[in-house]
Amino acid sequence: MADLAVFASGSGSNFEAIAAHLCGTAHRVACLVCDKSNAAVLQRCRRLGIASFVVCYSGRDRVQAEQEILSIVQQRGVELIALAGFMRLLSAGFIDSFDGPILNVHPSLLPRHPGCGAIETSYRSGDNELGITIHHVDSGLDTGPVILQKSFRRTGGESLQQIEQRIHELEHQWFPTVIRRFLDNVAQGNHDGGSQ
Ligand code: GAR
Repeated sequence: MADLAVFASGSGSNFEAIAAHLCGTAHRVACLVCDKSNAAVLQRCRRLGIASFVVCYSGRDRVQAEQEILSIVQQRGVELIALAGFMRLLSAGFIDSFDGPILNVHPSLLPRHPGCGAIETSYRSGDNELGITIHHVDSGLDTGPVILQKSFRRTGGESLQQIEQRIHELEHQWFPTVIRRFLDNVAQGNHDGGSQ
């Protein structure tokens, strides 16, 4: 059994897909860390009966916010962190201090279209192939070694909403699957989650 923490800032559809996928497995979402007190993900979290922590970044520097986050995850015995729409960069100091894998999902085929609004930017680009990237987190903006990419070819006739839905479907299928694989490895004593 291994415990993970999900960090999110927004709607939380990925958070919910991860929690649903782990239901009935030996693994568990131990807590949610959120940087926005009014984020919809907090309602999903309450409904699912998972502990949530709102960590305030405003009025103090990032190091202080990250110290608070580190003590939350360490006290809860978290072994893996999944960033699911967490719109903050983690510092190199935080990444080094956390003893376990930190994974991120991004709604584009990195290195194309990093940062916020990537679905719309991808949609408005002339790219024929769109998709998602799951990667290890470093201190850059959606950088870090790629674990998995999944893509589809667009016909050109799709609306932004249709593309958005297609991308979320890929995220909801593949991010929980990759997380599960890492948790299985962590539970077997492989603390970096394996080499995938
Ligand atoms: C997801 O599409 C995720 O890939 C993206 O935020 C969305 C969160 O949706 N993350 C990034 O853009 C990271 N740079 P959700 O709150 O419904 O899970």
